[in-house]
Amino acid sequence: MSNVIEINDYSWKYVNTRTPAIEGINLTVEEGNFVGIIGPNGAGKTTLAYSIDGLIPGQYNGIKKGTVEVFGTEVEDYAKGELQQLVGVVFSDPEAQFTAMTVEDELVFGMENIGLTLPEIQERLDWVTELTELSHLLMKPPYEISGGQKQRVALAAVLAMRPKILVLDEPTSMLDPVSRGRIFEVLAKLKAEENNTIIVIEHSLENLIPLADQMVLMADGSILLQDETQAFFQQSKLLLDKGLYPPGAMHFFHELKMKNYYQGKYPLTVAEGIDLLREIKGS
Ligand SMILES: Nc1ncnc2c1ncn2[C@@H]1O[C@H](COP(=O)(O)OP(=O)(O)O)[C@@H](O)[C@H]1O
Ligand SMILES: [Mg+2]
Repeated sequence: MSNVIEINDYSWKYVNTRTPAIEGINLTVEEGNFVGIIGPNGAGKTTLAYSIDGLIPGQYNGIKKGTVEVFGTEVEDYAKGELQQLVGVVFSDPEAQFTAMTVEDELVFGMENIGLTLPEIQERLDWVTELTELSHLLMKPPYEISGGQKQRVALAAVLAMRPKILVLDEPTSMLDPVSRGRIFEVLAKLKAEENNTIIVIEHSLENLIPLADQMVLMADGSILLQDETQAFFQQSKLLLDKGLYPPGAMHFFHELKMKNYYQGKYPLTVAEGIDLLREIKGS
């Protein structure tokens, strides 16, 4: 598998700040991988997202060291607008992105802008509204629908551009658990059916873990840990030290281990935890 993102010894310091927001990080992301990024506030997660989609250094002033390559090309070497077609970004506040009077116009707007033909637009519109379950809302004004629906519109608008890489920066932090689950259902379908590379910055581990192939832990501008999801969560002490609460089942087994009741691997989900308890009881 080829790497679609390669970041080498990369640092970024925003203008007028004393310490770099990101300092000396190395990260590679393979094509088609689903990567979860976690870390406390101020860790540099959003700065990393900006660095991948070209907002940094394009829209922000600061000092860059090292390299950020997307599909083998340094981000600032892309022509204007070119990188944005390869990398789609969804932020936590969908409203900020809306300009149109109806959901349908909101979805069509970007596709018209990149010069797609009417049949192409119709085909993508059908695909994306089915995927995000928005068909019944197409004629509604975007400001009249619920928060979860708004976020599905924002996601659909980005997906309609068919980006090869999708970056979601805390896409569900403003949503209730049910709406949050529906966003992750869309991501699960994308993972199963398409070949996108997906990077999700997210606090809700219960939703993230079943989908993530790789996990990254950031703190204070550094990457502290990057590993396959199962191996990553075996480091639960490190996560707890950084104030990040691992999922309930894992936390429970961590407490058992600390008290010498348990020596094995941590389960990542409640179902895995139940299986483990059965094994322990049976033995
Ligand atoms: N536009 C900006 N100008 C100056 N400093 C910034 C800016 N955006 C973020 N920072 C600083 O960079 C650091 C990393 O922030 P951020 O990337 O937003 O972290 P996270 O998304 O993990 O919470 C923080 O110290 C933050 O204050
Ligand atoms: Mg952030």
